[in-house]
Amino acid sequence: MREKIVAGNWKMNLDLNEGKELIIDIVDKGVNANVTSIISPPFTHLQTFKTMLSHTNIALAAQNCHQQDEGAFTGEVSVKMLKSVGVQYIILGHSERREYFQEDSLSISFKVNNVLKHGLKPIYCCGETLAQRQDGEHFETIRLQIEQGLFQLNELELINCIIAYEPVWAIGTGETASPEQAQEMHAFIRNTIANRYGEITANNISILYGGSVKPSNANELFACSDIDGGLIGGASLDADSFIALTNSF
Ligand code: PGA
Repeated sequence: MREKIVAGNWKMNLDLNEGKELIIDIVDKGVNANVTSIISPPFTHLQTFKTMLSHTNIALAAQNCHQQDEGAFTGEVSVKMLKSVGVQYIILGHSERREYFQEDSLSISFKVNNVLKHGLKPIYCCGETLAQRQDGEHFETIRLQIEQGLFQLNELELINCIIAYEPVWAIGTGETASPEQAQEMHAFIRNTIANRYGEITANNISILYGGSVKPSNANELFACSDIDGGLIGGASLDADSFIALTNSF
């Protein structure tokens, strides 16, 4: 269902003790209760954080998973395992995974299927590179990523997905898409979904923007009609700014 969401993607930052301090700070100060707040720490922190967050309205996400339930896949973690420690969402296909771990939309689609099979929610990431935008290929790139990663789903499955549009050139660079650029792409994504699944389904999907979102630019971005919140990297590593982002709608 469409909702306002702020999801903090910690990436490979903060050891367990540092992470616990940040969680305590966030819980003490309190996120906006009217927004779905999600924290996505490294795998090693999930179980501890689940206990720490048990009496809060902050949900947990993992940053990746394997597409199989079990087996000889050294170094991998399954959805079943993540579910067993209380994870509710899984970020899939982040551009860093596409770039450094050779994931593509097809391989990510198998993960999407597995996440949904276990009743968890995928946060499916898409985004174009700077070169693709400069060459005018950004809409086509995103259309393909959406179709190849998500269009194997039926309507009921798709409704349980969250999409994150994260232009690669804006991630961790301090450069943000303008609200107009972001809104334009979010509307395009919603329209791509509407063409296949109908308007009602498209209007029920939360589409998050990611890429150097911080308290100083979030209000403008989150005010756009097709932007339902943010997937936040750097600014989610500070309690005050994470909380401020949940208050930026
Ligand atoms: P950033 O990262 O906010 O640090 O740009 C966003 C992301 O990669 O999800």
